[in-house]
Amino acid sequence: MAKLGVGVVGVGTMGRQHAQNLRCLIPEARLIAVADADAKRAEQAAAELEIEHFYGSVEALVERKDIQAVVIVTPAKFHGAAIRVCAQAGKDIFCEKPFTLTLDEADQMLDLTKKAGVRVQVGHVRRYDPPNVRAKQRIDAGEIGDPVIFKSLARDPAPPPVSYMASGVNGMFFQDSTVHEFDLGRWLMNDEIAEIHAYGGVLVFPEIAQFNDIDTALLNLKFSRGTLGAVENYMQSGYGYDIRTEIVGSKGTIMTGYLQHTAETVLTVNGAKTDVVDHFLARFKDGYLLEMRDFVQTILADKNPKVDAFDGRQAVAAAAAAERSYRENRPAAVQNRTRTA
Ligand SMILES: NC(=O)c1ccc[n+]([C@@H]2O[C@H](COP(=O)([O-])OP(=O)(O)OC[C@H]3O[C@@H](n4cnc5c(N)ncnc54)[C@H](O)[C@@H]3O)[C@@H](O)[C@H]2O)c1
Repeated sequence: MAKLGVGVVGVGTMGRQHAQNLRCLIPEARLIAVADADAKRAEQAAAELEIEHFYGSVEALVERKDIQAVVIVTPAKFHGAAIRVCAQAGKDIFCEKPFTLTLDEADQMLDLTKKAGVRVQVGHVRRYDPPNVRAKQRIDAGEIGDPVIFKSLARDPAPPPVSYMASGVNGMFFQDSTVHEFDLGRWLMNDEIAEIHAYGGVLVFPEIAQFNDIDTALLNLKFSRGTLGAVENYMQSGYGYDIRTEIVGSKGTIMTGYLQHTAETVLTVNGAKTDVVDHFLARFKDGYLLEMRDFVQTILADKNPKVDAFDGRQAVAAAAAAERSYRENRPAAVQNRTRTA
């Protein structure tokens, strides 16, 4: 069987998950090496994954001829630089969301990867979450008529550690978190987001104010053909990782998402009790595997990824518009581009 030689750059929380999937659950892939700016972490990850090669930089990793594709899982601020290095080395790329932090950089990376002739898949995992995949198939088959309203909510159980914001490498709330909803909305509605009106605030996590960031946002969206969207994004549900989406159509509605994670309900005199999904690695476990498997199979088949650099760029544009709208307290137009062949 032809196998794709893959390297993973950035082996923190998300990078380890991708590396594990490549190493153990995707037979068409051969995980050759990992790299991390923290060389000790790279060494430890390589030992855990039982692979031989580890490096302290993406530059060192791409020198390997047996690596055809690189999975970039660094914090967002370093995505652009890593994409540049991989493109120059002729490697195909899987890049975690957000594609880049700024729209300028997203434009540059879209053009640069196209010119270099390398393929790019962006880690918008929602598109690989099985209920969302089925929703998309039903929408495309006309089961709910024309999509009219996109509603989505994303609540994290608790804010990340203060160091996550203090580092300044992960992007603000709209870029880091709401970007998932922007991509999902574009995809399920088969349309571009034309305009966003974002309200936000520091309502539960006062420590975040010093970084000029927010913990809560409500956004209204207008799609280019006139359909509408409403998104809630919140950092501190207190009860779990709550991700739900609704597509309201002219002939019906589809709802995706769930709260209870395992098939256990405890019934006592005090009432009924279930667990709640507690982490993104649990909620999107299947999605992370399916997106990476699809990436590997797509590259081996010499095809174009289903969620590519253009999609990544459009989601970054939506995040930038949301940021502008929130700061200027008025609706902001999304600076969309048109897909070119
Ligand atoms: N799709 C999802 O659901 C999802 C979930 C979590 C994180 N992410 C994304 O994954 C990426 C990584 O997030 P994380 O939570 O794993 O972060 P993390 O901080 O846990 O890990 C990042 C790793 O990258 C390393 N690193 C930093 N700069 C580097 C550089 N220049 N070169 C090589 N390595 C470098 C760090 O040492 C660290 O080991 C981010 O883009 C984040 O938005 C996506």
